[in-house]
Amino acid sequence: MEKGNVQRIIMDMDPGIDDALALILALKSPEVQVMGISTVAGNAPVALTSANACQVLEACNIHNIPVAKGAASPLERPLEHALSYHGPDGLGKLALPERKFPLDPEPAPELISQLASQHPHEIVLVATGPLTNIAQAFQSHPQLPKLLSRMILMGGAYHITPFGRGNKTPLAEFNIWQDPEAAFIVFTSGIDVTAIGLDVSANPEVCLSNKHLNQLETGHSPAISLAIQLTEYAIQHHGCCELHDPLTLASLLDPSLFGFMSVPVEVITTSDEERGMTRILPLGLGNRMPFIHLAIDVDEARFIQLFLSRVFGR
Ligand code: RIB
Ligand code: CA
Repeated sequence: MEKGNVQRIIMDMDPGIDDALALILALKSPEVQVMGISTVAGNAPVALTSANACQVLEACNIHNIPVAKGAASPLERPLEHALSYHGPDGLGKLALPERKFPLDPEPAPELISQLASQHPHEIVLVATGPLTNIAQAFQSHPQLPKLLSRMILMGGAYHITPFGRGNKTPLAEFNIWQDPEAAFIVFTSGIDVTAIGLDVSANPEVCLSNKHLNQLETGHSPAISLAIQLTEYAIQHHGCCELHDPLTLASLLDPSLFGFMSVPVEVITTSDEERGMTRILPLGLGNRMPFIHLAIDVDEARFIQLFLSRVFGR
């Protein structure tokens, strides 16, 4: 990204606490312009993830970003949500006021295609949920992988670092496990993929704890109050607030935070214990699967500082 240029993005997400924090981070970061949001079933049913995306926009007093509802279930499998982690409403049981924000009339794949067609080769697609919407968009609009500039996704466990184990199963990360068929379609679509996996995002040094919240003067804007409530819920219920999705967006805000390596990756779509595994192939066989840019390390302290200063206005 040229210095001073604002990067146009589309965010496909399943809010969920960390998706909501990633959206707040995007709205408060001058490096990016959110052109649209598409929602998918994952952490919560799609009715909730859609309502939650609208709630975050309301809290940030934003009313000009379209939110398009997407898939209610994975391509070929039933949904297994994670409300036990994110709270009964998917946003830490905040019981936010009924949203006034109307959803876009178009379904998610159409909104993604329309925006990419309006801004050819410019938009970076940032996906922080299961990849169902993206796969459906690529299937119904085959030119889309080339119309988008590239894609950054939160997904996978690559066993490169000690944190790179699965979080849904011992071998698989939640987003990929939820819809492995969609992930296979996306990884083999020809689009340039950057993956932020658990290898960096499950590092305890990039999770928020009470010590971070205690540093903050309680902000007075609705967005800061929302971010604090979400973070507090995660800390109270899980000991820390995982930031998988804000970390994914941060790879666009400041790529220098990360180390990357390009590797061929295969997504396992069986229904056994390997379901949703993201396997790095030996380079000799690499031509069987396309290469992706994989994050293998992160400057934890600089990321936390970036996140706190942007989201909590510190
Ligand atoms: O495995 C973590 C990912 O799954 C995050 O994107 C979280 O929000 C859930 O979608
Ligand atoms: Ca997510």
